[in-house]
Amino acid sequence: MPAEYSRNGPAPRLAKPVDELPPGSVSQLRQEAAGCRRCPLWRPATQTVFGRGPVRARIMLVGEQPGSEEDLRGQPFVGPAGRLLRELLAEAGLDPASAWLTNTVKHFKFVPRGKRRIHSRASAAEQAACRPWLAAELDRIRPAIVVALGAMAAQTLFGSGFSVTRERGRWQAIGPHTQALATWHPSAILRMRPPQREQARAQLLADLRSAVEALSA
Ligand code: URA
Repeated sequence: MPAEYSRNGPAPRLAKPVDELPPGSVSQLRQEAAGCRRCPLWRPATQTVFGRGPVRARIMLVGEQPGSEEDLRGQPFVGPAGRLLRELLAEAGLDPASAWLTNTVKHFKFVPRGKRRIHSRASAAEQAACRPWLAAELDRIRPAIVVALGAMAAQTLFGSGFSVTRERGRWQAIGPHTQALATWHPSAILRMRPPQREQARAQLLADLRSAVEALSA
């Protein structure tokens, strides 16, 4: 069994447990997920966008679903929201390359409009179909800190009643060795207008700083 699949102790968990955790190492999971047919989103998408980062990462950031650039490049957070996230992580004192970056849903969902592909939110059924991948990433990576970006990730981790507006920045245990918080999604910040945009950016930065501090606690 590869070393990365031999961590001991209870894993961090999602709000709703998954029926069956996909087996194997992180690289095996990535390969399996590349052929995922658990929901119809694979068909129009270019590829599965699985999580990226060091398998021993101590911090995991969970977004919603890949956008168009992520779909084309096969990597999470490489489009406009990703650029903002990486900039803020660096500002908070964390090298983005040291984090495991992933999404709640691993395929880009879109509506074609002429030559453009307009982002469309994954349904509850599509989110549920993708849960085993995130549960398996949590199980294999076993991060000490998880940051949920936006409502979709927050509700997958903390339950459907979770409100980012009301509860952002609050730490909760999601396992015996894992603390998690939810904060704004960088895409939401990009859609806001001043002065809300500056305020939300400052809050996201503060939450990322809190996560970085928790790493060294
Ligand atoms: N938004 C996300 O939630 N994830 C990405 O990877 C990119 C944009």
